[in-house]
Amino acid sequence: MDYEARYKEYQQAIEGYLNGLFTRDVAYGKLYEAMRYAILGGGKRIRPVLTLEFARLGGIDWHLALPFACALELVHNYSLIHDDLPCMDDDDLRRGKPTCHKAFGETLAVLAGDALQPEAFRLILDAPMLSADTRLEALRVLVRACGADGMVGGQVLDTVYDVSDAEGLTQLNRLKTGMMISGAVELGCVAAKMNAGMRSQALTYADGIGRAFQIRDDMLDVMGDAAVFGKPIGSDREEGKVTFVDVLGLDGCAREVERCTEAAKSAVANWSDHMFLWELADRMVGRTK
Ligand code: IPE
Ligand code: IPE
Ligand code: MG
Ligand code: MG
Ligand code: MG
Repeated sequence: MDYEARYKEYQQAIEGYLNGLFTRDVAYGKLYEAMRYAILGGGKRIRPVLTLEFARLGGIDWHLALPFACALELVHNYSLIHDDLPCMDDDDLRRGKPTCHKAFGETLAVLAGDALQPEAFRLILDAPMLSADTRLEALRVLVRACGADGMVGGQVLDTVYDVSDAEGLTQLNRLKTGMMISGAVELGCVAAKMNAGMRSQALTYADGIGRAFQIRDDMLDVMGDAAVFGKPIGSDREEGKVTFVDVLGLDGCAREVERCTEAAKSAVANWSDHMFLWELADRMVGRTK
């Protein structure tokens, strides 16, 4: 199966799973509406796709890993709702549409983000067909990825501290973005009970694409097309943020993205079935959205 077809197959399964969530008729229906607005808003689904591909490469039927994949995607979407708030990046556009707080107001946006977190953990707790041990390990992985020493810690460095050198930015990016990408990869490995050797190579791959991913995001914040990128251009500068674009310049960033992508690819080069992972990494280099 070629890359496009496989990506589409994963994407459709993810959309179907997410679309089945928060559909009951409840007295606080506006909460569900805001949550569904955020999670069904046309994201690329890179993280859950990674979970499913690593589950497949680990030798299980990838459908079994859907609850893990979508759990991490729920957390990712909560992080974006909060990231866009006036107290954080203060952005009005996400995936080409008004951000959650623009569409529903700040109160519901904060609460929708709040609700997505425990609901994510519930998906893992309730994952049918996977053993209790596997679910416990998956919970640990997700907690590490999004907790104080993961994504949230990175968001604090990004918004509250003045980080401006390459070393500091590398740490900031690893926490705010890299940990969630590594978490997605690791959830797939956990679902498939992948052996330690392969798991460590998988995490090296994740580290490379995670670095490349955020640097490319920072480049697109400067040189992207808002209509394609789906987010405002110049938001980082407006918020007074220093990113790798300031430290390395656009050309330097492009070279760094290449370097991280090559490091990612070589980590899984000896896997017999690595074509999807290679293609995904390569597409990160030139992505426009
Ligand atoms: C946006 O992530 C947040 C960053 C870490 C840069 P994505 O670019 O994966 O966002 P969606 O989910 O596809 O919209
Ligand atoms: C955010 O990084 C990463 C998160 C943890 C949400 P950015 O602030 O650069 O993400 P975008 O550009 O708003 O998607
Ligand atoms: Mg931000
Ligand atoms: Mg932002
Ligand atoms: Mg950005």
